[in-house]
Amino acid sequence: MTLAGKRVLLIISGGIAAYKSLDLIRRLKERGYQVRVIMTAAAQEFITPLAAGALAGGHVYTDLFSREDEQDVGHIRLARDCDMVLVAPATANLMAKMANGIADDLASTVLLATDKPVLLAPAMNPVMWMHAATQRNVETLTNDGIFLVGPGSGEMAERGEAGVGRMVEPTDIVESVETLLEEEPRPLAGRRAIVTSGPTHEPIDPVRYIANRSSGRQGHAIASALSRLGAEVILVSGPVNLPDPVGVLTVHVERAEEMRDAVISSLPADIAVMVAAVADWRVAGTADQKIKKQAGEAAPALELAENPDILKTVGHHEKRPKLVIGFAAETQNVEDNGRAKLERKGADLIVANDVSAESGVMGGDNNQVKLISKDGVEAWPDLPKEEVADRLAEWITLKLAKL
Ligand SMILES: Cc1cc2nc3c(=O)[nH]c(=O)nc-3n(C[C@H](O)[C@H](O)[C@H](O)COP(=O)(O)O)c2cc1C
Repeated sequence: MTLAGKRVLLIISGGIAAYKSLDLIRRLKERGYQVRVIMTAAAQEFITPLAAGALAGGHVYTDLFSREDEQDVGHIRLARDCDMVLVAPATANLMAKMANGIADDLASTVLLATDKPVLLAPAMNPVMWMHAATQRNVETLTNDGIFLVGPGSGEMAERGEAGVGRMVEPTDIVESVETLLEEEPRPLAGRRAIVTSGPTHEPIDPVRYIANRSSGRQGHAIASALSRLGAEVILVSGPVNLPDPVGVLTVHVERAEEMRDAVISSLPADIAVMVAAVADWRVAGTADQKIKKQAGEAAPALELAENPDILKTVGHHEKRPKLVIGFAAETQNVEDNGRAKLERKGADLIVANDVSAESGVMGGDNNQVKLISKDGVEAWPDLPKEEVADRLAEWITLKLAKL
């Protein structure tokens, strides 16, 4: 495995273990990594930018508002022009800022602006490490997808203090860097995918709408799975209570017509996976003002109009993606209805699932699907939605390789 040439952005924060970061830079350079260094103001109380820069072989960035640095690379490019960000040592303070999204100096701003993997090597006094606030922050950071190496246990720099909180040795940090940077297979690199997800909301008046029970979990999981395999993914999502998947460009829409426009303007693409539960009808002539309840008057009747069929539009579009996949949410005759849809919509695959109330699929954790294509029907067992997503991403990879 060769990781030489990979770019590590090293952030040194203000802990006593900062002196070990000099050795860490040396070891990373020995392995052939390009190392760029940022130091916090507190870090410069322990080691100098001159020493770190001499070892890294370049300028050390320290100031968010430096006119020269901003013109040279700029904080956003610093955050992105790397393969990973390593924080060693990571102080309790910097971890607290990260856990709360605080960006009040160069290091914390870059950490908020990066879209690259982040590895922390915490180093602090054991009481600071065990403090409820620090432990809360560690949990938040881990949930946010931040990686940690250490801390280790043993004697502290302060005499008479021992426990968990020591920064792990530079050799162990280098090993974690290597693990993080190991190439995962990215068979969909260079491919572009459009995924829709969630429900649509069709307004009745400014405060009311028609919706359905889709949570967006399946669509979001598919967007993530395709992205992990290297595809450039555009996720067009209806209103959901889910975070935007990391590494995916998410476009937020409400109505079916908006979803159609967002999908069409994202073409061309190699893959389209239309997972969203798009409302079949919208309210014709949405009221501009809230419809008032009038004493003694009958309930208003809602006139419905047909919404655009996004799957069919994509399936017959002049820029039709090589692979068009639709989801069919059915409550009866799942297979027959799925097969009919395959034809009608111009799709290569219909993923049919039973969304009847007893199936618990809508809003639930699991999904049981049937893959219906012109080659036949493949029934998958009841699986977590994430696993359905991974399997489908594999299916897409194999299919595209043959086209
Ligand atoms: C001698 C000394 C040693 C310190 N060592 C640590 C340490 O190992 N870990 C830590 O989290 N904070 C340590 N601190 C406190 C940090 O320097 C302080 O919280 C600072 O605000 C951190 O700033 P930064 O996170 O922007 O680098 C130490 C402070 C002093 C004076």
